Amino acid sequence: MKGKNSRSAPDYYATQAKKEGYPARSVYKLKEIQQKFSVIRKGNTVLDLGAAPGSWSKYALELVRSGGKVTGIDLKPWQISGGDSRISCLTGDIFDEKLMDSIMEHGRPDVIMSDAAPATTGNRTIDSARSMALAEQVLTLCTRYLSHHGRMIVKVFQGPDVKMFTAHAGKLFESVKVFKPKACRTDSFEVYLLGIGKKAGSYDKS
Ligand SMILES: C[S@@+](CC[C@H](N)C(=O)[O-])C[C@H]1O[C@@H](n2cnc3c(N)ncnc32)[C@H](O)[C@@H]1O
Repeated sequence: MKGKNSRSAPDYYATQAKKEGYPARSVYKLKEIQQKFSVIRKGNTVLDLGAAPGSWSKYALELVRSGGKVTGIDLKPWQISGGDSRISCLTGDIFDEKLMDSIMEHGRPDVIMSDAAPATTGNRTIDSARSMALAEQVLTLCTRYLSHHGRMIVKVFQGPDVKMFTAHAGKLFESVKVFKPKACRTDSFEVYLLGIGKKAGSYDKS
């Protein structure tokens, strides 16, 4: 028998997302992270990497309130309905340096979060290596652009490199935590790594 979070069973989180007007069930992973670690705060500027269809961005917009803003980027075109001027829904690749530089002209984000996931092959070794490449890019972007004391959330597929990645993140942040939300599907091997409090003097671009 399938568990309540497995892919083919009726899914509590998917039904709930529909009821609450979020485009994806993944919003509940961010809600759990937020409840435990208070990553996103009133007035924050948030950068959402791998943002489509937009549930994390939509929730982040609620948390930052009127003084904050959210920029989301995804390979696929996406949009959040409602025409809120506090959000920019961009189409692009997080490896595109020119695009990332142009976004940062408007100021350093307080939070960089990434739920970006590679197209999966079913081969766990390949999938974790691709996920790790995305996560390393997120860490590079945090090194370059995240504000002092800023916070990071990044999804990684569990694999042999996660320990080393955690150690890299530990050089940039005061504290690093690994968290698996209950809303993750039972057959998923994803976890979220949180970087809390970017250390001073760790910028490599001004
Ligand atoms: C699990 S979905 C994100 C769901 C999103 N957090 C939400 O709540 O709606 C992962 C996304 O990562 C995006 N992605 C993967 N690689 C990317 C890249 N290099 N640049 C931008 N987006 C990427 C995919 O297109 C996909 O839409």
